[in-house]
Amino acid sequence: MNTILFIEVSPRGKDSASRSVSDTLAGRLTDLYPSAKLIRRDLAAEQVPHLDNATLRAISTKDATEAERLKEMAHHSDQLTSELLDCDALVIATPMWNFGIPSTLKAWIDLVVRPGRTFQYANDGGVLGLAKNKKAILVLASGGVFTEGPWRPWDFVEPYLCQILSFIGITDVQTVRVEGMNIPDLAIGAVPRAN
Ligand SMILES: Cc1cc2nc3c(=O)[nH]c(=O)nc-3n(C[C@H](O)[C@H](O)[C@H](O)COP(=O)(O)O)c2cc1C
Repeated sequence: MNTILFIEVSPRGKDSASRSVSDTLAGRLTDLYPSAKLIRRDLAAEQVPHLDNATLRAISTKDATEAERLKEMAHHSDQLTSELLDCDALVIATPMWNFGIPSTLKAWIDLVVRPGRTFQYANDGGVLGLAKNKKAILVLASGGVFTEGPWRPWDFVEPYLCQILSFIGITDVQTVRVEGMNIPDLAIGAVPRAN
């Protein structure tokens, strides 16, 4: 295990349940793999841009001259994509917002799910994931409970993240649910808190 990439999404700092768990996970992974490099991408602090027309052209053009001219526009996407391709393990720690992922995480996904870099279509119409040999851990915080009960079909976080990760070749995925955070009896003591 050489490199572990953390994508941390919640803007709630020390109040964030998903960040609290990903901090604990970072500590445990460091104990397990002392020589591994941890990269922590804080999408709340960093403001990953939404994919705009110029960036879209820069990362999709097949014309070498145009690619060179638009190189600067592709820089952010190139950097995030290389970081993903270079890691051995990926941790995504995110809240559920309105039953899905926050748009900041979607913006990161839109910059790293790229034809020719992280996936390619096969001749038979199927798809080939190019982000090979990686494990992923999802840390998913939600106010309600989604692993069982009536709200289960409302979870568009875990199914979507598993599907998009498998699309790019990451199929070894474990999930840590931090759920019921808006239900006092479940939330109390649910996550480690720093004082
Ligand atoms: C804008 C917003 C939307 C939310 N939408 C949902 C939701 O659809 N379902 C749910 O169970 N909890 C929802 N919550 C509650 C959060 O998922 C919960 O507070 C969780 O702990 C947030 O993760 P964090 O503590 O890491 O920030 C929402 C919270 C916010 C701020």
